[in-house]
Amino acid sequence: MSIFEQVESEVRSYCRAFPVVFDRSAGCYMYDENGKEYLDFFAGAGALNYGHNNPYIIGKMTEYLQHGGILHALDMHTKAKRTFLEDFENKILKPRGLDYKVMFPAPTGTNAIESAFKLARKVKGRQTIFAFQGAFHGMSLGALAATSHAYPRAASGTPLLGITFMPFPYGFNKSFDTIGYIENVITDDHSGSELPAAIVVETVQAEGGIIPVDVEWLRRLRELCDRHDILLIVDDIQIGCGRTGEFFSFEKAGIVPDMVTLSKSIGGIGLPMSLLLMKPELDIWGPAEHNGTFRGNQLAFVAADAALDVLENTDLLSHVKDMERVLVNHVEKNILPIDPRIEYRGRGLIYGIDFTALDPSGAAAAKISRKCFEKGLIIERCGRNDTVLKILPPLVITAEELTHGLDIIAESAKEVLKG
Ligand SMILES: Cc1ncc(COP(=O)(O)O)c(C=O)c1O
Repeated sequence: MSIFEQVESEVRSYCRAFPVVFDRSAGCYMYDENGKEYLDFFAGAGALNYGHNNPYIIGKMTEYLQHGGILHALDMHTKAKRTFLEDFENKILKPRGLDYKVMFPAPTGTNAIESAFKLARKVKGRQTIFAFQGAFHGMSLGALAATSHAYPRAASGTPLLGITFMPFPYGFNKSFDTIGYIENVITDDHSGSELPAAIVVETVQAEGGIIPVDVEWLRRLRELCDRHDILLIVDDIQIGCGRTGEFFSFEKAGIVPDMVTLSKSIGGIGLPMSLLLMKPELDIWGPAEHNGTFRGNQLAFVAADAALDVLENTDLLSHVKDMERVLVNHVEKNILPIDPRIEYRGRGLIYGIDFTALDPSGAAAAKISRKCFEKGLIIERCGRNDTVLKILPPLVITAEELTHGLDIIAESAKEVLKG
């Protein structure tokens, strides 16, 4: 029995799908302790948009450490935080015409969601928040209440309150007027539901099975919120920071959410960091009303600031769009022909290969993912019963690397499905 099985809790998860001991990483590759190379199509679940150990970011972090830069300062003012805030304002928010105040909750995504929900309830004086079927917003109790998956919900041990789930335009509800339905729930005084303080949405449901909504749907959602005095929270934790080919996933729809949550790749190199962006008039927090020890990882500020340089200097957003074309061509040419029941969906560099119609149990997708791993590709699954293979590489991936990984998926799918 390894030390992991002996000592580490049964709650461990990704290590079960990728059962080796990793040692080092560079760019789009991870290496196990025996030196075997794996192409990474999972990218730390979206935390490594700029690649493993991005040399430019590492250089800036090394400089900071050698200078004796402060590493922990609670939320005191530091040079590292000032530089990040100035650059985030000037390079990300201002050019997009966005006017947000920035809050640093505790370091993970679920903390950003907690603070968004708390603030929305405080601002509107209402308890309910609407989330969507298929949503994933985190594991702490407030965020878990808005996460739809029955399995982690069942582990809460206490009622999950304050959230009402609405239908998402997918599957059974694909051609249903979901926005019209929400409007009806809000306006019907016999709907049994209270007016929500906010509606929280992922513009591409990631854990739910890589399900993008179209821009028209998002615009209607924004208008609905405006008409009924409801705050719109966009959860860009997994698909923000350039993943969709825009820095924020909602840009294409031309809408401005009232609050935005970011985490994962905002820390640049995989260091924990999260942000809540809020319209200035919503910032009614009292000092220390939402506090915490780790709300200012200084090295993460340095890495996050360097990542903004990478984004700009390498024209990464255009690169994502180019790589999306490579991906779509390859999937249509080499993966879809394997079986007519295979579907695919996505945006930018987050795509799902959906095997639901072929095997709703998830067994086929599990076998393909395992086969990929044997062939040196790390790829995770998501969606109902984990039937969807999730393509989520670092955004810095080259066309050759992307093609190589997609070739492995095609080969593995053929081997599993054709016996
Ligand atoms: C959309 C979304 N929101 C929230 C979270 C929670 O983030 P964390 O795991 O850092 O708590 C995740 C994590 O995968 C996510 O994908």
